[in-house]
Amino acid sequence: MGKVYVFDHPLIQHKLTYIRDKSTGTKEFRELVDEVASLMAFEITRDLPLKEVEIETPVIKATSKVLSGKKIGIIPILRAGLGMVDGILKLIPAAKVGHIGLYRDPQTLQPVEYYVKLPSDVEERDFIVVDPMLATGGSAVEAINSLKKRGAKNIKFMCLIAAPEGVEVVKKEHPDVDIYIAALDEQLNDHGYIVPGLGDAGDRLFGTK
Ligand code: URA
Repeated sequence: MGKVYVFDHPLIQHKLTYIRDKSTGTKEFRELVDEVASLMAFEITRDLPLKEVEIETPVIKATSKVLSGKKIGIIPILRAGLGMVDGILKLIPAAKVGHIGLYRDPQTLQPVEYYVKLPSDVEERDFIVVDPMLATGGSAVEAINSLKKRGAKNIKFMCLIAAPEGVEVVKKEHPDVDIYIAALDEQLNDHGYIVPGLGDAGDRLFGTK
């Protein structure tokens, strides 16, 4: 069964409070999401493999460690996932970025793919799917389905705020996917918003209504 990690680091919790606050404007909201994404990327990359290299310090020849070059792909779910990409790229700039766009079918209410563009070497990459909000879990499950259908084998899911309902759905549908969350909230309301949440992440990131 996939593991669920909730990052209760004080810096993440502090910044998340201002992200949630409705008086926080678009510019600051975007900056804070970017910063929290970086902090989460720091934790999520904890298991990256290292290799030893020979170097010369000003004092002596030494062996030291560098990343062994594991290939990473970041996959934002459009559109709100875009707000987390740059923050992750600051820490792993060599990562490739794919995009998955989903819309909700008005009849079935199920998410449907309308855009998928992935790095060409899907089978060799480890993927981090990002979306600020894990609400019902429908989009996350469909995005992960999309990746798996195209050959992805190692996938993590990262979000700022999750509802328990969404976490359960992703765990059930994709038990091989670990979930990384900055805060696990109480529930979904009747309109599908996470409570207390932060409102509509896409609108708050891009200044739309
Ligand atoms: N998507 C959002 O942007 N906000 C929510 O609360 C739930 C889904």
